[in-house]
Amino acid sequence: MTARDGLPSGREDRAREYRHALGRFPTGVAFVAARTPDGEAAGLLINSFTSVSLTPPMVLWCLGLAARSRPVFAAAPSFAVSILSEDQRSLLGDLARPLDRRLQGVPIRDGLGGAPVIENASAVFECTIATVTRAGDHEVYLGQVEHFERRDDTPLAYLAGQYGRVHVAA
Ligand SMILES: Cc1cc2nc3c(=O)[nH]c(=O)nc-3n(C[C@H](O)[C@H](O)[C@H](O)COP(=O)(O)O)c2cc1C
Repeated sequence: MTARDGLPSGREDRAREYRHALGRFPTGVAFVAARTPDGEAAGLLINSFTSVSLTPPMVLWCLGLAARSRPVFAAAPSFAVSILSEDQRSLLGDLARPLDRRLQGVPIRDGLGGAPVIENASAVFECTIATVTRAGDHEVYLGQVEHFERRDDTPLAYLAGQYGRVHVAA
């Protein structure tokens, strides 16, 4: 991997520069969650959510191999993606807590396969898992959208490691 500006030379510097370069791509923030047939639920904050196909509707997101919630996703038939709205910024701290109390006090409902869905999310995509593909230090979860909904609110934005407001140009 070469940084074109030629500045960072050390391995750690290059890795940091690479993350900073990726951070130039603004995204939203979502909470993706699943439940095993045994009833165990888990979820995590992500910004790797992407639409893949419109017909049929398919989306993907990426899960770090070290994620503690990984066994739950591995055993679940489905997942639910809740796109956070600007009004839900206050939930970010809760949703970043240790896994065993991450959903404590968070308003959720059961979605497809019992996957936790955050109430009043800006949009929700409930998916059956189509494929899981290992890619470097992540797994790519590709899902077929079985149900979706959206609200007329403002989604939360994420850019360069910071949360922000979407400003729609006229
Ligand atoms: C804004 C934001 C975006 C993130 N995006 C991802 C992502 O796309 N994939 C991922 O595996 N982790 C992502 N993370 C990190 C996980 O949310 C975090 O590592 C979490 O603690 C993993 O939880 P677990 O180990 O309990 O499963 C993101 C974190 C934040 C704050």
